[in-house]
Amino acid sequence: MPKTVFITGTSTGIGAATVRLFAQHGWQVAATMRNPADAKFDDLPNVRVYALDVTDADAAPRAIEQAHADFGGLDVLINNAGYGLVGPFEMATDEQIQQQFSTNVFGVFAVTRAALPIFREQKSGVIINITSVGGRTAFPMNSLYHATKFGLDGFSESLWYELAPFGIQVKVVAPGGVATDFATRSLKMTIDPANDADPYAPQVRSVLAAFGERGGAASTPEQIAEVIYTAATDGTSQLRYIAGEDAQRILGAKAQMSEADFAAMIQQNFGV
Ligand SMILES: NC(=O)c1ccc[n+]([C@@H]2O[C@H](COP(=O)([O-])OP(=O)(O)OC[C@H]3O[C@@H](n4cnc5c(N)ncnc54)[C@H](OP(=O)(O)O)[C@@H]3O)[C@@H](O)[C@H]2O)c1
Repeated sequence: MPKTVFITGTSTGIGAATVRLFAQHGWQVAATMRNPADAKFDDLPNVRVYALDVTDADAAPRAIEQAHADFGGLDVLINNAGYGLVGPFEMATDEQIQQQFSTNVFGVFAVTRAALPIFREQKSGVIINITSVGGRTAFPMNSLYHATKFGLDGFSESLWYELAPFGIQVKVVAPGGVATDFATRSLKMTIDPANDADPYAPQVRSVLAAFGERGGAASTPEQIAEVIYTAATDGTSQLRYIAGEDAQRILGAKAQMSEADFAAMIQQNFGV
């Protein structure tokens, strides 16, 4: 019996690449997305597409139960859906903050809670939360995004203990920059960086320029999908997978440097 994986946010980027990789390895894939018309998996017979906006808490159990019934099993859950909210915290609207947490955090809670009874009863399952290098270290002008990804990292670490007695593995895949729609179509801003009347605009421009100069994308989504596949199948209790040479380099530097030296380096790199 082939194994089944349930993945959120699969219209583009890491989610879409992960659907393809698992399907190529013979898995049954429940590919979920806000708008199923965006799916590009017609060439993959073992992929079924389900509508799921992760901010709709009622929809999460429905999608999990449907996929579980259709495929006759559920082995791995990948919480991938998410986006970045960039810009000064002070200028973020309540709605922007709510939406950022509803997607990146509460969405993960809803889908995970829907899968847990199945995993617990079968005494097996793997939950993989896609966080970010930004769940382990922070860059300027990304405070709310970091709040969500640091939150997911801590959530996952605690769940690791809670679910181990039930045979359920919890894992975090933390990518660095990846060439996806993350920094273009999906990115939301709390201010218009071109608005010179905004007191934070010069800082935001400087940070965006620094991300741009570094290319912002050391990895392809296919490379991150490989790390996710390893996390799903290696059978170990490893919690964190730092994905991408850039992510490993910056976290390696943080581990070796003093807090003050690391902060000074970040300020210099981002011109803030
Ligand atoms: N790219 C990077 O540099 C990078 C680095 C570290 C971590 N990550 C993380 O990787 C994950 C995937 O991002 P990506 O790089 O692949 O970017 P992406 O190409 O923009 O993909 C993001 C996916 O999330 C979906 N999504 C957004 N809000 C959703 C919602 N409410 N319900 C369901 N799906 C929703 C998008 O769907 P729509 O098509 O409907 O918008 C899209 O499928 C995110 O969690 C992101 O934080 C990315």
